[in-house]
Amino acid sequence: MPSPADLVALGLLLCFLVLVVGPDGTHGSSRGSFGPNNGAAAPVSNGICATSVTIHGYKCQEHEVNTEDGYILNMQRIPEGRVGWSSGGGNKKQPVLIQHGVLVDGMTWLLNSPEQNLPMILADNGFDVWIANTRGTRFCRHHVSLDPLHPKFWDWSWDELVTYDLPAVFGFVFNQTGQKIHYIGHSLGTLIGLASFSEGHQADKLKSAAFLSPIAYLSHMKTALGVLAARAFVGEITTLFGIAEFNPKGHEASGFLKALCGYPGVNCYDLVSAITGKNCCLNASMVDIFLKNEPQSTATKNMVHLAQTVRDGVIKKYDHGRPDYNLMHYGQPRPPAYNISNIARDLPVFICYGGEDALSDVLDVQQLLDHLKFHDVNKLSVQYIKDYAHADFIMGINAKDVVYNQVVQFFKNQQ
Ligand SMILES: *[C@@H]1O[C@H](CO)[C@@H](O)[C@H](O)[C@H]1NC(C)=O
Ligand SMILES: *[C@@H]1O[C@H](CO)[C@@H](O)[C@H](O)[C@H]1NC(C)=O
Ligand SMILES: *[C@@H]1O[C@H](CO)[C@@H](O)[C@H](O)[C@H]1NC(C)=O
Repeated sequence: MPSPADLVALGLLLCFLVLVVGPDGTHGSSRGSFGPNNGAAAPVSNGICATSVTIHGYKCQEHEVNTEDGYILNMQRIPEGRVGWSSGGGNKKQPVLIQHGVLVDGMTWLLNSPEQNLPMILADNGFDVWIANTRGTRFCRHHVSLDPLHPKFWDWSWDELVTYDLPAVFGFVFNQTGQKIHYIGHSLGTLIGLASFSEGHQADKLKSAAFLSPIAYLSHMKTALGVLAARAFVGEITTLFGIAEFNPKGHEASGFLKALCGYPGVNCYDLVSAITGKNCCLNASMVDIFLKNEPQSTATKNMVHLAQTVRDGVIKKYDHGRPDYNLMHYGQPRPPAYNISNIARDLPVFICYGGEDALSDVLDVQQLLDHLKFHDVNKLSVQYIKDYAHADFIMGINAKDVVYNQVVQFFKNQQ
């Protein structure tokens, strides 16, 4: 059983994750604009390529990738730019793998116009772009034997994303392209990248890594919601624990959020800024599109694991809550830690973080950087953007100028 502290931390997470994008003070759960998740994957004819890429004149391929534990992941590949980049002769395009955060899927990268979104900017700059989608999201609700309506399908946390999802997509892209890969993660996509690389995984397939709005240490996450957490909607959260799938569009979660936002003295407008930070640069009509497509399901266990990271301030494997259970899983009473300092010191790393980001707090990023203090100086670039918060990194209307051009340059420098 999760402890009360877990529950409180989970409550915080639920709020910020679901409210992450509402600059106008409304939020998804009360709009009733979400369609139901019925457990079936949409046909590829309404896949991300068709809805978000080819309509802009880019080539796009849908791919299926199997993980070792049986999940069938969906990926998109934008093999080239719109503006006639023919890779002459032996000048092969370098692959870039883009990994989204929790409760969203790869489509979030494609909401901005082609001139302004990261995948298309990379394609137009001559890269071979691969967009990953995590298990459980809309187009990744398939498994060789498990049904998403079965709780067993949801028995995983971000440890499994490190152990199975990342190796599967890295292996697939490496096989298809025969080249080392540039990695980009946002939010949870940074945490699983950092954890994976710290264990030396993908070393033979990884060329460089860009971490946007890095989530690693979470103990300084701004606590304006602390007041709320103290009031702890423990009853509601406990109810959620009974559900293996955490579907933010679902009845239980939205009921929970409605209750939260209707609580006397709680203003969801304030929650948004207090929890995600004050996103400087979101486009309100884009946020509407975002809310129609996201948030996506994840495993409740994944949310609990994140809550443990918030609470403990260290990056550890999932805590099964009892020494004997941990012993069974890990051969030790406490979950093993991921040691970020073990990331290969000569791996080219780009870290970009925002001054207004309440999730990836400046103090927590400094702790991350402290763990990288022995990294080769000329292999580590860090960029600080004073007025950026968490969602600006994927949807900011000026993200091209402020972040993406820098990412492109960083990758080009590795060639
Ligand atoms: C990569 O290709 C090899 C040879 O075709 C195959 O055995 C292996 O399973 C492939 N790996 C992945 C992750 O696709
Ligand atoms: C905001 O988004 C809408 C809809 O996608 C778009 O038409 C408009 O040009 C965007 N505004 C800015 C400033 O990017
Ligand atoms: C983490 O790794 C670094 C570098 O390899 C090492 O010096 C340090 O002792 C490790 N920390 C822990 C807690 O194991």
